[in-house]
Amino acid sequence: MTVAVVSGAASGLGQAFAAALAGAGYRVAGLDVADLGETGALVEAEGGELLRVECDVRDQESVDAAVDEVVTEYGALHVLVNNAGVYPQLPFEETTLADWQRIMRVNLDGPFLLTRAALPHLRAAGWGRIVNIVSAVVFLGPPELVAYTTSKAGLVGFTRALATELGPANITVNAIAPGLTRTATSARTTGADGGFERVRDLQCVPRIEEPRDLVSTLLYVCDRGSGFLTGQTINVDGGSAKH
Ligand SMILES: NC(=O)c1ccc[n+]([C@@H]2O[C@H](COP(=O)([O-])OP(=O)(O)OC[C@H]3O[C@@H](n4cnc5c(N)ncnc54)[C@H](O)[C@@H]3O)[C@@H](O)[C@H]2O)c1
Repeated sequence: MTVAVVSGAASGLGQAFAAALAGAGYRVAGLDVADLGETGALVEAEGGELLRVECDVRDQESVDAAVDEVVTEYGALHVLVNNAGVYPQLPFEETTLADWQRIMRVNLDGPFLLTRAALPHLRAAGWGRIVNIVSAVVFLGPPELVAYTTSKAGLVGFTRALATELGPANITVNAIAPGLTRTATSARTTGADGGFERVRDLQCVPRIEEPRDLVSTLLYVCDRGSGFLTGQTINVDGGSAKH
């Protein structure tokens, strides 16, 4: 059975991804610093079982232990979804070095550490899929998200360069760029004070993006048949950024 790890699976997109992968027949492990109980229930509703792993993606020991736990429990690892991320709104001139580093640590160190820990297992399996969740902000460059946009643009570069390195190993590396999507976190931050409606009005598809809008793209990229799709950033934002 195909084994998938989703980071940041306790809420929002990661939760929807974990449930969807379970529904599609993957064995799923969710990694998060937050409680994974709600995601476990959703995965069970899809007929699967969630391996819940407490993990801070910024911390090498924590990441290595989490990947070991998944492979010990499930015997293999094929798919890694680097989804854990933070997106605080900060005017650039009020952004401190500590703010900048906090964002880079989750959004860039996290995928680096998890990917490095997972790779020996993907190589051992003879194939693999690495999916990095970036953001349509890399195309749009909105204000008050300079550090965040920089981190996600870095993850696009990571995606492209790593795809080249891992192509011969039958491992694809792609990024999915959601637009502003309704989650508990975005409702408190970027979507608050009319944010969802403002973004909706810039889209070709005039409704607010929901986590389920990203699921078919995730499953497509992870599919065993998608082995010729690599190094790409697939923008799923209702058409607000066209590239
Ligand atoms: N919601 C949106 O509008 C939107 C749009 C584009 C991209 N994204 C990206 O999608 C991803 C998920 O966003 P979301 O809205 O679902 O956010 P969310 O806050 O609901 O989920 C993020 C999860 O990551 C976890 N997390 C944070 N720091 C962590 C750490 N150090 N170690 C392990 N887990 C950690 C959180 O506990 C949380 O469960 C992020 O990478 C975000 O940048 C979101």
